[in-house]
Amino acid sequence: MADVLNHLSNNLPRRKFDAVIIGAGGAGMRCSLQLAQAGWSVAVLTKVFPTRSHTVAAQGGIGASLGNMSEDNWYWHMFDTVKGSDYLGDQDAIEFMCREAPKVVYELEHFGMPFDRNPDGTIYQRPFGGHTANFGEKPVQRACAAADRTGHALLHTLYQRNVQARTQFFVEWMALDIIRDAEGDCVGVVALEMETGEVMIFESKTTVFATGGAGRIWAASTNAFINTGDGMGIAARAGIPLEDMEFWQFHPTGVAGAGVLITEGVRGEGGILLNKHGERFMERYAPTLKDLAPRDFVSRSMDQEIKEGRGCGPDGDHVLLKLDHLGADTIMKRLPSIREIAIKFANVDPIRDPIPVVPTIHYQMGGIPTNIHGQVVVPKNGNPNSIVNGLYAIGECACVSVHGANRLGTNSLLDLVVFGRAAGNHIVSENRRASEHKPLPADGGDATLARLARLQGSSSGENAQDVANDIRKTMQAHCGVFRTSDLLAEGVSKINEIGERVGRIHIKDKSKVFNTARVEALEVDNLIETAKATIVSADARKESRGAHAHRDFPVRDDANWIKHSLWFSEGDRLEYKPVNMKPFTVETFKPKARTF
Ligand code: FUM
Repeated sequence: MADVLNHLSNNLPRRKFDAVIIGAGGAGMRCSLQLAQAGWSVAVLTKVFPTRSHTVAAQGGIGASLGNMSEDNWYWHMFDTVKGSDYLGDQDAIEFMCREAPKVVYELEHFGMPFDRNPDGTIYQRPFGGHTANFGEKPVQRACAAADRTGHALLHTLYQRNVQARTQFFVEWMALDIIRDAEGDCVGVVALEMETGEVMIFESKTTVFATGGAGRIWAASTNAFINTGDGMGIAARAGIPLEDMEFWQFHPTGVAGAGVLITEGVRGEGGILLNKHGERFMERYAPTLKDLAPRDFVSRSMDQEIKEGRGCGPDGDHVLLKLDHLGADTIMKRLPSIREIAIKFANVDPIRDPIPVVPTIHYQMGGIPTNIHGQVVVPKNGNPNSIVNGLYAIGECACVSVHGANRLGTNSLLDLVVFGRAAGNHIVSENRRASEHKPLPADGGDATLARLARLQGSSSGENAQDVANDIRKTMQAHCGVFRTSDLLAEGVSKINEIGERVGRIHIKDKSKVFNTARVEALEVDNLIETAKATIVSADARKESRGAHAHRDFPVRDDANWIKHSLWFSEGDRLEYKPVNMKPFTVETFKPKARTF
């Protein structure tokens, strides 16, 4: 490592690729597949072995209006997604995603993805929250499922296809920063090999962020430990704003005390939520969709039950998810992993007993701003969507924006595959491969090397995990299911104070240090950018919309707040840009009150 710090960045080892993709989840591998199949040299950098990327944890299904169980169509799917987004989603992007959905699912089927089957051989589909027939009339079965391991099946299918297509994986490599040239174009990535500490520059004609979410800025999260917001941190340091970061989804059913996800597919199969009186309380909050209302709705209802003293357990701090009435056969066939999770993490067998659950951070609706081709867009010279050449973002780290203020379950796997594929197609059509690599600026990796040097240079300072834990505690306490002006303002100043401490993080005992300590410290640089973006954007939004529920501004304010927020790290400032309310081929879905 010391050697590396003595390098000038223009002496760092380099490799050249047509495209570099950061992240090997569903979005990254769908994109890399498209490129590798077109003959591009593609490097995929990933902190973990590809099939351990967080997509593997997705359980319940991928949304597509196949109509295998009853009548369905993309237009109903689009309506549900726009309404689910609380009218903050861009309607052109939503139309594109919902129209593409059946095609990308059939493509996965042809790649060999092992979906569950109906007796007639078609793909099995289950109901999921907020997905309806005929514009909200009744629930529809739209979630294409591989038992309760849909993400696992998807990721393994894509990995095998990528191996066949000769994608080059750099496993246990952490991207640290991108390199932009004087024109602002992205020309490469600085990355760290986690095992050896080697730092290398990957020169690329096209770079794609596919780094997933940042659920680890919270104390209780369904997210894997790798989800530290690396893409958002890198983008923010490179001068790219983060969009709509105030909108974070609490999944209604995390195992109480453990945070592990219990799929909404449980409720799709007929499971119900009960309070301490054994009451199916969702009937009061959402008379039509009940337990299958969208997640923001269900999470708020659960929080309300708990706050009003109807929670379960000695501390009244959770509710119960009952599924024993589904019968052992259905549980073993459709929800085998859920049974395993309940036994291991809640010490209950759901064949007999209900699972204690609590709303738990699950998904970020915001991220790096992009258009429907996955190209990163920034405001420039009066154009809110000016393209950054050579740079794309896809999947959870991107904000295209199809989820607006609240995502519907199953639309995340769909987003990964639709926009991973779309970005791949666009990159191929742009054909940067045909031109030479643009020259790297001489100081291309200097900022990164300075960061690495800072960590090891001082003899004392802050411990990375203490700082990370304080970020998590603060976000959990100040930016929860319900927010208030006081809580948010206090949260902003605490996060700013923690931000100061991030600059003082050091690695103790350098002679014996494992690289994991260095990686954890580098991850905190990304956690803090994401946490700041989130809490500053939340503090500024004076309304309630989707997952942003503000006690002091309880009403949605369409006159003033149908707009996307853009947070810039430099200057810690916000700008706003319009929501695209105009779909490509159909009429706008105009904002209406959301009842279910
Ligand atoms: O509940 C779930 O299975 C999660 C799915 C999703 O977030 O889309």
